[in-house]
Parts: sequence; C-alpha cells; structure tokens
Amino acid sequence: MMRKQIVAGNWKMNTNYPEALDLITAIVKESKNIPEEVALYVAPPFVHLSDAYKILKESTIKLGAQNCSWENSGAYTGEVSASMLKSVGCSFVILGHSERRKYFNEDGAVLTKKVGQALDNHLQPVFCCGEQLEERESGKQEEVVEKQLEEVVFTLSKEQFQKIIIAYEPVWAIGTGRTASPEQAQEMHAFIRKLVAKKYGEDIAGDLSILYGGSCKPGNAKELFAQEDVDGGLIGGASLKADDFIAISRSF
Ligand code: PGA
Repeated sequence: MMRKQIVAGNWKMNTNYPEALDLITAIVKESKNIPEEVALYVAPPFVHLSDAYKILKESTIKLGAQNCSWENSGAYTGEVSASMLKSVGCSFVILGHSERRKYFNEDGAVLTKKVGQALDNHLQPVFCCGEQLEERESGKQEEVVEKQLEEVVFTLSKEQFQKIIIAYEPVWAIGTGRTASPEQAQEMHAFIRKLVAKKYGEDIAGDLSILYGGSCKPGNAKELFAQEDVDGGLIGGASLKADDFIAISRSF
C-alpha cells in the first residue's frame, strides 16, 4: 500500500433528504476534474447512506458513516452496526470523533470495540484524535494524542493497523474558524508518524495517511496539505458545499 492523499467530508448532523441527494449529486459531478491520485470520501448521516450510494456507485468516491455500534447485532435500540453499513455500500467509518467523545462519552474501551467491529466487517476506520485547548495551552498535546492512539489503534495487529487512516483534529480548531497553523499540524503529524514507526515499523508508518481536521477550507487547505506529513483533510463545515469540498481536494 502507498500513502494516499485523501479528502474526507464529515457532514455531521446536517442535510435533510433532498439536500443530501443534491449535495451528493453535485459532488459526483464536480469530482470529475480532480486529480486521479486524490481519493474523495463522504460521510453523510445514516439515513441518507443507502440512496447516496445509488448516486455514488458509478464514481470513485467512497461512502462512509460517522459512527457505528460496538456490537454486531441484537437488542441495542437505536444503534447501527458496521455490518449494516457495509451492506448499504459503505467502505469506511469515522470513529473517535471529538464530538462523539464529548457528547456520547466514548472512551478508549468502547472505541477499541468499534474499531474491531469496523475491521471485522471490512470497513476502513478513520480514527480521530486530538487535544483540547487547555491541553495545548499547557503543552500536553503530544501526551494526549499518544494516549488516544495507545488506547485504541495501537492495540491492533500490524495487519489490522495497515487498514486504518488517522485524522488529527485539535478540538480547539473544530468548527471554530481557528485552524491549526501548518507548522502545528506538521509537528503533530510527524509526531504521530514517529510513534507509528516505533510501534509498527518505518514502512507501515510511511504508508499511513494522516489527515488534518479543524476549520480546513479552500483558503487554507493548500498550505496545510503542503506539509510533508499532512496527507489530506477531514472536512466538516466546508464539506457541505460541493464547490468548497472540491476546491479543497484540488489543494495538493
Ligand atoms: P470543521 O470540522 O471542518 O467544521 O472544523 C472538522 C471535523 O470535525 O471533522
């Protein structure tokens, strides 16, 4: 596997059904002009996945979800399993997003099970990590990110780890308009890659795609993606406009 350039859209809890179909249709149409080596990922809300797939399936865009259950099936009212996601055309799932950690109390133990479910069902986990503002202000960002990785993805075998993508998303940059500087992003991405090299070896670390997330938009994507260890972005707000999302994917 070679390190891939990826731009992933996390729609969060946005778009009603007609809006979602319009957005997917526009992204498919505009994606015809993006460079071949850039992979586009989109993660609409659960209820739109099945119909989104019908529109996406003729394109190279990958469909994914924003979460999945830690269990495979059964009496878990309101949950959606990795195998259900796979059955409607998903190929990846975002796990460990800071909003899931904050509002749904997801911790290392539950995320380890979710990553396991994703891998068992052939979904690629996009695993998010990142520090809070106070943690950065007190210089603890590396310690925090290392712990988040140790607890979950560093429990994987080498073979499993090769299937994942990591997204570094400093919590203070998400939805705030305050993006990390290219230097701050590079510093953390290089740190993550160094940890991966120590744990799984240089080759696996070299092949890992590490995405930056947090107020990434057309105006700042280029300088972020120009950093050696930044392999693309996980995009929230700007992924809700096809033009912006596509402009970001042309920023390598
Ligand atoms: P944002 O969100 O681009 O709106 O800051 C990024 C994310 O949470 O994935």
